[in-house]
Amino acid sequence: MYWDPAVETLNPDRLRALQRERLRETVSRAGQSPFYREHLAQAGVSEAELNSLDDVRRLPFTTKDDLRSRGREMLTVPWDRLVRLHASSGTTGQATVIYYTRRDVEEWADLVARCLFMAGLRPGDVFQNMMGYGLFTGGLGFHYGAERLGALTIPAGAGNSRRQVQLMRDHAATAVHIIPSYALYLLNTFAEMGVDPRDLPLRLAFIGAEPHSEDMRRRIEAAWGLKAFNSYGLSEMNGPGVAFECPEQNGMHVWEDAFLLEVIDPASGEPAPPGVVGELVFTNLTREGMPLLRYRTRDLASVDDAPCPCGRFHRRLSRIQGRTDDMIIIKGVNIFPLQIDKVLMSLPEVHTNYLVELTRKDFNDIMLVKVEVRENFFKEDLKYLTGLRKRLTEALKSELLVTPAVELVEPDTLPTTEGKAVRIIDRRE
Ligand code: COA
Ligand code: AMP
Ligand code: ZN
Repeated sequence: MYWDPAVETLNPDRLRALQRERLRETVSRAGQSPFYREHLAQAGVSEAELNSLDDVRRLPFTTKDDLRSRGREMLTVPWDRLVRLHASSGTTGQATVIYYTRRDVEEWADLVARCLFMAGLRPGDVFQNMMGYGLFTGGLGFHYGAERLGALTIPAGAGNSRRQVQLMRDHAATAVHIIPSYALYLLNTFAEMGVDPRDLPLRLAFIGAEPHSEDMRRRIEAAWGLKAFNSYGLSEMNGPGVAFECPEQNGMHVWEDAFLLEVIDPASGEPAPPGVVGELVFTNLTREGMPLLRYRTRDLASVDDAPCPCGRFHRRLSRIQGRTDDMIIIKGVNIFPLQIDKVLMSLPEVHTNYLVELTRKDFNDIMLVKVEVRENFFKEDLKYLTGLRKRLTEALKSELLVTPAVELVEPDTLPTTEGKAVRIIDRRE
């Protein structure tokens, strides 16, 4: 029933004691990096002064901007000890990069294996991983975790819907990792191919990477004929394997032996009580190469510290309720409005304004970008305009990693708005 019984069933007192010990070790380790040496000195705190878990509040926060501008200065090991990197969100100097040592990769795999075992995956299962491989953490993170557990793993990757169905059918998949909106979208492909997923031996789905409702989970479970478990993680904390649902499906257990969780009021930075929605802040407790202190995720959720019937005392997270910044998630890919702005404003043909509309058709996210073209480029030459539209599409795709539909419009015809976020209209459910 438990992958790591000793750790998973630690009682709250012992779990807190373990966290205290690991917090000190982490702060000591982080202090070896140029970035944290400087920040800990500024805050005037060292590991010796951390007597209780509440003392974590004396440590400085770490933000995505810190990672963008000074990520490499957070390394605590020599360069030749690193074996992997992953990056999130875009290329225009905006990507956040996380580096892993061999031990980090192994510990991460172990955490993911713990999640999968908890939800019911076992050796003998056939696990099809439909998340993006490459720089996304969802693909390789689950891949290593499932192999660690001993499941037969199909590295299907994202996209190519007919092939996904074919693979599930041909290899009698029993478990899948899939983005929830894509799980519903794929039902069309199943229908086109005359396959009913309920006739396949599928038992488990692990769904995450984007916000979704309880209603959506129940729809996936009914249509696919399986149990679906919510999976939460972020690249900055390895990737998946931070919090995961147990068979009770009553919130996601945060692995508190590996992550110290705080929920704060995003405006004041003060702690939010259990049950109250706030921003999630995590401190790595076991990471070797790049331990982060008090990383501000910008994700909003609440925590439930009531005991869970499954016997695990690791506290449970609610569904993610939103963000405190303007990041949007399309087809499981994180996008910041600034990225769109940078691409468009760097092109001489683009006039001053653009508008992004997000909709969902058959559960597939659609991103329509309406772009004003400067007068002298807006010719009645269809070939030229088709070429321009293609170039804009390519430029946006290369930055965002999803393909938008681009519509060219005449200058000064779009409503003028203030702020980049307002240029994005999200009409998805
Ligand atoms: N997951 C997997 N496949 C998806 C998807 C999703 N969320 N959304 C769409 N697709 C499928 C499409 O159905 C299409 O396949 P099909 O034509 O055979 O049906 C194929 O991917 C390409 O879709 P399209 O919309 O034309 O391409 P795009 O360039 O906009 O997007 C994706 C490309 C889907 C590959 C890209 O968005 C992606 O990698 N998404 C997954 C991200 C991920 O794994 N996130 C986890 C982060 S930890
Ligand atoms: P990435 O760093 O690319 O892995 O993206 C991480 C982000 O995806 C998180 O900060 C969340 O905003 C979002 N996310 C991941 N898992 C979930 C989930 N289960 N529910 C809602 N949002 C999620
Ligand atoms: Zn539980």
